[in-house]
Parts: sequence; C-alpha cells; structure tokens
Amino acid sequence: MINNSIFRRKSIQNVLKQNDDSHGGGGLVKILGVRDLTAFGVAAIIGAGIFSTIGRASFEGGPAVSLLFVFVSIACIFTALCYAQFASMVPVSGSAYTYAYVSFGEIFAWIIGWALILEYAVSNMVVAISWSEYFVGMLAGFGINFPDYLTIDYGTAHRAFLASQNASATLTDADLFAAKAYEHAPILGSFKFLIDLPAGVITILVTSLVYVGMKESRTASNFLVVLKLLVILLVISVGAFYIKPENWSPFAPNGAQGVLGGVASVFFAFIGFDSISTTAEECKNPQRDLPRAMIYCLVICAVLYVCITLVLTGMVNYTELKVDDPLAYVFQKIGFNFMAGVISVSAVVAITSALLVYQMGQPRIWMAMSRDGLLWKRFSEIHPKFKTPSFATIITGLVVAIPSLFLDMGFFVDLTSVGTFFAFILVCGGVLYLDYQGLSKDAKFKIPYLNGQYLVGILFVITISFVFYENKLFSEIHEKPLLVVFWLTWLVLSVLAYMHKFSMLPVLGVLTNLYLMTELGITNWTIFIIWLAIGLVIYFMYGYKHSKLSK
Ligand code: ALA
Repeated sequence: MINNSIFRRKSIQNVLKQNDDSHGGGGLVKILGVRDLTAFGVAAIIGAGIFSTIGRASFEGGPAVSLLFVFVSIACIFTALCYAQFASMVPVSGSAYTYAYVSFGEIFAWIIGWALILEYAVSNMVVAISWSEYFVGMLAGFGINFPDYLTIDYGTAHRAFLASQNASATLTDADLFAAKAYEHAPILGSFKFLIDLPAGVITILVTSLVYVGMKESRTASNFLVVLKLLVILLVISVGAFYIKPENWSPFAPNGAQGVLGGVASVFFAFIGFDSISTTAEECKNPQRDLPRAMIYCLVICAVLYVCITLVLTGMVNYTELKVDDPLAYVFQKIGFNFMAGVISVSAVVAITSALLVYQMGQPRIWMAMSRDGLLWKRFSEIHPKFKTPSFATIITGLVVAIPSLFLDMGFFVDLTSVGTFFAFILVCGGVLYLDYQGLSKDAKFKIPYLNGQYLVGILFVITISFVFYENKLFSEIHEKPLLVVFWLTWLVLSVLAYMHKFSMLPVLGVLTNLYLMTELGITNWTIFIIWLAIGLVIYFMYGYKHSKLSK
C-alpha cells in the first residue's frame, strides 16, 4: 500500500504488535470477564431509550412497535456477529474505527471514528438530559424542588413560552413547566439565564469515576445493572396482570408507516452493545469473551424490550403513551402510585449506568486514533496511577457536559442514530471485505457461513418484484428518495455475492441497517453529511500528515 494514500491500511499483525508494545509501557489493566462485559453491554443498552423514547414510538405505531423491536434487534444481531468476528481478530480498544483501518483503509477509519463521536459523545448528551428530567421528577416526588430555570435548556423553555402566548395552542404539563421556567429565569445581559444543571453535573461526576479507574467503573456498573434488570423484570411481571387484550387491537393502527416512524427511537434504545468492544484491551480473554458478551447482552435486551412494549401497550391504549416517562405513567394511570415511584427512582439509576459506559467508550476510541497519529498525542496518554486514558477522558467529560447544559435532546436522537447506522454498515461491509481478502481465516470467532452466492440475488429479485407488483416501488421511492440507495446497494451486493460467494449474514447486516437508515429522512442525512465534511477537513489538516502510516 502506498504510504501517502488516504486508503493506506494497517495490517492485523501491525495492530496487534502496536497493542503489545503499548502494554509494555504500562498499558490498561486486564480485568474484565464475560460477566462484566455482558453487564457493561446491558448497562449501555438499557437507558434513556426504553425509559423515555419508547413512549412516542408506541404512540405513533401502536402495539405493533413490538415487531419493530424484533426487526431492529435482528439487524443488531447481524451487526453484533460482525463486531464479534472483528473483535476476535483485532482485540484492541478502537472498536469499529480499528476494524475499518484494517479492512477499508485510513480515510474510512477516520470517517468511522468521527461518526462514532455521534454514537458515544452525542448520544450521551441525550442520556444526560434524560437523566436530568427523571432526577428532577424524582426529587419533586420527595418534595424537593430545584429552581426550574436550572433544569431546562433555553431553546425548549423559549419555545414553550412563545406557545403559551398563543391562546389557541394546546399545552402539555411539560410545556407549562418549561414556559414557567422561562418566566422565572433571571436575566443575564440581554438573555434569560436557563441551563440544565443536573445534566452537566452528572456528566462530570460520572466522568470522574471513569477517570479514576476501570475497576471502580466495573463495580459500579455491575451493581447498577443488577438493580436495573430487577426493576425491568418487576415492571413486566406486575404489568402483565393489568394487560387488557382489547388494547392490542388494532395492532398496527397507523399501518407500517406508523410503526417505522419509531425507527430512530427504537434503534436508539439498542445502541450500546457494540461499546463493549472498546474495552478489548481490558479483557482477560477478549477473543473468547467479547463475542459471547455482545450476543448475550443483545438477546437479553431484545427479549426485555419486546415484553415491555407489549405490557405498556396492553395496559393502556397506545394513544395515551405520548409521554416522556411511559413506564411510570402506565402505573400511575392504573392508580399504582408506589410502582410509579419505584420506576422513577430506578430510571435515574438505569440512565446513570448508560452514561458511564459511553463516557468510558469515547476516550478509548480517541486513544486508538491518537496512537495511530490521527489525533494529537495527548489523547493516548495513560494515567500513571489510574491506568486510564486520562486526557481523553477529561475532554470527553467537557464535550458532553457543556452542550448538555444548553441544548435540546430531540435533534440529537436522530443524529446519533444516523451516525451509528453508518458505522454498523461499514463494520458489516468490513467483514465481507476481509473474508474476500482471505484475512478472516484465523479469526477465533467466525460468523456462521451461509452461502449467499445465489441467495442475495434471488431475494433481491423476489422482493423488488413483489414491491413492483404491488405498485409501490415508484411511489415509495417518490416518498423516500433514499430508498434508491438501498435498492442499488442490494443490486451491487447481489452481483458481488455471486462473484465472491459472500457470507449471507453480514450481507443481511448491511441491508437491514441501510433500510432502517433510509427511514430517518433526508434532513438527518444532510446534517450527517455536513458532520462528515467537517471531519474530513480536520483529517486533511492534521491526521493525514501525522498518521504513523505516512512514515
Ligand atoms: N441505548 C442507550 C439508551 O437507550 C443509548 O440510553
């Protein structure tokens, strides 16, 4: 590979050697086993998504959203298998970033590393803001009231205030709270002073824990996960007694479109299983344990999510679920206030553990990028006593804490999902590429091989003919032009699968993730493309010149 090419690739041997060398100089401590990893995975997956965004998805799609959870979990399982194969071949901290470096080359690695900021740092802004909402609600339950202008961002409060001035607007309780906060806020210069203080403070506290050490983070995470699982199981088992089957009919009141409208929220709820691959250097036996843990945590969460959706939509009519705290709401609704209180407290706990995992993942990815020379050297500094990537951890704390003080979460949910789908697609594609190059022969974990030589193309022909026969192909493309990308990718994959006998499961990973990504709409894609463009400018100004591979 030419050294000055943006497609220069690292060899797997090179990555592993670099990793050994860095351990010689006092690297990270290897203490994680399969149970810890599964716990980290569950900690990362179950968070703001299931405790809040599921409400709106159920409101739009009705009980059938449970099927969307099944579909998204299948896409995630294909992806997890691909992550697992990579993690067993390249057990280092960089996760998808490193996987892209060995498969597609440096520019793709940079793009993925840059997109992963959306999955880790930006998603954690959502998680921190959602934590703050539950925390403030929990305090209110105990009769402690925080000054309202210190619990909300300016934009949300200002919008609600303007709406409250409009006599014909219908306002929810949350809107009224936000409008009041705006009225109460002190004036600073020519602006009202409004910040989400709890979101910023919890981010700093969690970052401090991550800074101090993996052992401490592991203990905290294991404890929080057990508590979280117990509460979720309690909701399912108690809620099951209050299900009224008539609430499940109609099952999909707004049709397929209503269900698919919840893609970003449902996907957001699954994000995180991949984050455990960033701890590869801290695992006792990453090649054996990472693949297992990833599949375990995903299956556990998928089962819980489907059960919770069925319970929620069975307990009350789906039209009532347009709330930010659906799990507590349904119990309040049936007059079971004690359960509602338990759920509110547990949501605070659950969301804290999700926050912890992403605050841990982001610095480790930056560390890997810095070791390769694509980011400044300080990002790979390891603290001499705590053995954690110290500088990168502090920067992550600031990058997440500051926006979470000031910004509104809605926009970030979509942005996180677009970035993460993109990373997942490249990881699945990366496995196909390594298989094609014959490099995955020695992988300790291999995705079960199902020959896709004819199958990919046959499925393409059957599906497109069916959609065409139903007279939907052009109308769907007209409504969602991004579907063109999906159909074209499938066509190209059919040809490549025929030529190279592609393995079926990674192909399905690419296709299912891409299909779900097209559901996110053109505005999100546009913002994502702008994000990538900014990243590329940074790459060409710094990383391209300083990359270790250029020397
Ligand atoms: N899956 C994570 C959550 O729901 C991002 O909070």
